[in-house]
Amino acid sequence: MAIKDNFCVFIILIISSVFVIIIFLAKVLNKKNGGTRGDLRCRFPPGSKGWPIVGDSLGWYNAVASSHPPRFVEQQVQRYGKMFSCNLFGKRAVVSADPAFNRFVMQNEGRLFESSYPKSFRDLVGKDGVINAKGEQQRKLHSIASNMMRLDKLKFHFLHDIQMVMKQCLGDLHHNQVVILQDFCRKIAINLMVNQLLGVTSESEVNEIAQFFSDFADGCLSVPINVLGFAYHKAMKARGSIIDKINRTIEIHRGHSSSSSAIGNGVLGRLLEEESLADDAVADFIINLLFAGNETTAKTMLFAVCFLTQCPNAMKQLLDEQQNLRFQRAGEMLTWQDYKSMPFTQCVIDETLRLGGIAIWLMREAKVDVEYQEYIIPKGCFVVPFLSAVHLNESVYDDCLTFNPWRWMAPENQEKRNWRNGTYFAPFGGGARFCPGAELARLQIALFLHYFVTNFRWKQLREDRMSFFPSARMVNGFQIRLTQISAGWN
Ligand code: HEM
Ligand SMILES: *[C@@H]1O[C@H](CO)[C@@H](O)[C@H](O)[C@H]1NC(C)=O
Ligand SMILES: *[C@@H]1O[C@H](CO)[C@@H](O)[C@H](O)[C@H]1NC(C)=O
Ligand SMILES: *[C@@H]1O[C@H](CO)[C@@H](O)[C@H](O)[C@H]1NC(C)=O
Ligand SMILES: *[C@@H]1O[C@H](CO)[C@@H](O)[C@H](O)[C@H]1NC(C)=O
Repeated sequence: MAIKDNFCVFIILIISSVFVIIIFLAKVLNKKNGGTRGDLRCRFPPGSKGWPIVGDSLGWYNAVASSHPPRFVEQQVQRYGKMFSCNLFGKRAVVSADPAFNRFVMQNEGRLFESSYPKSFRDLVGKDGVINAKGEQQRKLHSIASNMMRLDKLKFHFLHDIQMVMKQCLGDLHHNQVVILQDFCRKIAINLMVNQLLGVTSESEVNEIAQFFSDFADGCLSVPINVLGFAYHKAMKARGSIIDKINRTIEIHRGHSSSSSAIGNGVLGRLLEEESLADDAVADFIINLLFAGNETTAKTMLFAVCFLTQCPNAMKQLLDEQQNLRFQRAGEMLTWQDYKSMPFTQCVIDETLRLGGIAIWLMREAKVDVEYQEYIIPKGCFVVPFLSAVHLNESVYDDCLTFNPWRWMAPENQEKRNWRNGTYFAPFGGGARFCPGAELARLQIALFLHYFVTNFRWKQLREDRMSFFPSARMVNGFQIRLTQISAGWN
């Protein structure tokens, strides 16, 4: 007994002395890194040193896993100012809650800053896609993507197909059904992406590819161990299957290039027709779009319904607006004119993006030593424009934590509302990496809201809350019971 006790004490002593040594070393090393630039005119943004090794990752994690992701950033801003440094994921990082600096970073993509992702992620989404491409190649791919999904192309290529997919998916729901809305929105978003990118319309084929894609997406967020049985391995295999499918479509297209009908309205078909990209670049291009459009759209649809559920006044006004379109044209599909006549729905979408923005921060790396105001950011430093800290700043938006779609109608907010090129509202990023799918996403979300609210009422069954880690979600999936309001389907 005594020996065992002594042994325990001994172990505890060793562990605590190791700790003391680590902390001591970390302090010494930090002094070395931090002290040298002190007397220059510019300095490294101030910030906590955090704990050795884990750095500030824990505080960061706690904040983004909660329903208020900027909390950690707000605490640091109070102490150090709108730009501060911290230790994240084993690296020194500069984090910004300053809208002007965030814009500066986005506008200088490729010159002073460069987007930066972990290698495992790069391997999965493909090095030749727009997300990982740099410089000239990125600009080329980005302009192809923007061009394919431009506002004036949507009405020809997407308006009809989106509604068809929407009706297919919503048609599976029935009166009194209990639905995990989060899963349902994921299904819609995946089916939409598969349909619009690959031009696939048959329901069974959409479902098959959607399954590959679902495996693929799960792996993107998992630990990168490429061994049988792990999600990352499954994802790599799913990536192969998707590429295989794309390859076959390319072959079909080359086979009878005169009849483009085989590939429908999909981006892939138009890509092969209008642009000249190498085959493996085509595959990575499409996979990048699939990846970028899946989660974001699904979660914005979901959050919009959650916010509306908590705000009956907004729900009523949105329903009125959407039903008015219905009364005029019962049973038919919505037209482009209809889409342009949903001002309140557009406010709901903007407010959902502000309050529940999926892209809460961007990841960049300084390409060179960058001077900004009184700060210097050394080359190679990780830079994080924290968008949601601006979207949820009380000095920028009155009553910033309240869902208030009407705020976007106020004349004083019209300038802020410029989501294509604004400083205070950037849910789709900005500059050279501005989201090329933004217009498409907004169309999908508006049409989803239309078909959902004009066909169903719902009751929330379980308490729920948002979390933004590992990805944006409702922790309980938002469980609802549906009531179908019309016998005939709209
Ligand atoms: C509500 C939905 C969406 C939101 C909030 C959103 C947000 C964003 C943001 C913030 C970026 C910039 C990332 C950065 O600068 O690092 C981005 C990039 C991108 N988005 Fe979206 N997005 C949405 C939907 C879509 C859809 C539907 C597609 C495609 C079908 C898409 C395709 C892309 C692509 C390809 C990029 C990378 C562009 C580049 O790196 O050059 N997004 N998105
Ligand atoms: C909010 O905005 C004000 C005014 O621009 C700024 O002084 C403050 O530091 C910001 N707060 C955060 C947490 O970003
Ligand atoms: C994309 O959609 C699939 C299927 O619903 C889902 O499993 C996955 O988590 C989503 N996420 C990402 C990051 O694409
Ligand atoms: C798809 O085609 C590309 C280029 O022709 C080729 O390199 C790749 O191996 C093919 N992939 C699959 C899974 O068939
Ligand atoms: C974006 O805004 C800046 C100034 O705020 C302006 O110089 C630029 O031309 C705008 N770009 C677009 C595409 O509207």
